[in-house]
Amino acid sequence: MAQTQRMDAPMIRELRDGRKVTIRAIAEKDRAAMEVFGNSLPANDSLYLEDDFQNPDIIARLTNAAAAEHWRQFVAEAEDGSIVGYTSVRRLPGWSSHVADIYLVIGQHWRRIGLGTELAQMIFDAARDLEVAKVIVEMLEEQTDGREIFQHLGFEVEGTLRKHARDRNGALHNMLILSYHIE
Ligand SMILES: CC(C)(COP(=O)(O)OP(=O)(O)OC[C@H]1O[C@@H](n2cnc3c(N)ncnc32)[C@H](O)[C@@H]1OP(=O)(O)O)[C@@H](O)C(=O)NCCC(=O)NCCS
Repeated sequence: MAQTQRMDAPMIRELRDGRKVTIRAIAEKDRAAMEVFGNSLPANDSLYLEDDFQNPDIIARLTNAAAAEHWRQFVAEAEDGSIVGYTSVRRLPGWSSHVADIYLVIGQHWRRIGLGTELAQMIFDAARDLEVAKVIVEMLEEQTDGREIFQHLGFEVEGTLRKHARDRNGALHNMLILSYHIE
């Protein structure tokens, strides 16, 4: 596989309510701020997101992978230094190595002001750098806000896996796979 480029230059973006964020690649030093971010997420996010952002081991796995070749992760940092958004794109192994999965989560008090769209744009560019032809995002059927933003960005529901996900309370949920073909 050809060596892929990294897009690590921080970008400042003004959101619809006038607040500014810096969008930049995640770094190992973000571990503590990512833990605070994870613990600030609303209860339903904690229940439904595949990665448990309230688990310090999961956060450590993300920040430790800051330089991973097949994985790009970005954070949105507020002016006070707190992390208010996270996104990642990770190339899949084996026969799906032309496909990457996407993850996107925005802090509760930073939603509906365009930050998700900004991070999604960043992640599309990173997916191109990873030279993938297709991106997918998996979510529970109940995650309607997630479905709205990705359909707004041109993704289509490609499939439903019935009772495929188990939340942290043990309840089973249908999982949707949304996809977007880059080429
Ligand atoms: C989904 C999520 C990332 C959206 O982030 P956001 O910063 O609020 O998104 P934006 O402000 O850029 O919204 C872009 C568009 O998506 C749609 N949208 C986003 N949230 C929506 C909601 N709750 N209801 C309806 N439409 C919504 C709208 O069309 C919106 O455009 P508009 O505000 O001009 O109407 C955020 O709600 C979140 O983190 N949810 C929990 C995690 C999750 O479900 N992630 C997706 C699976 S990985």
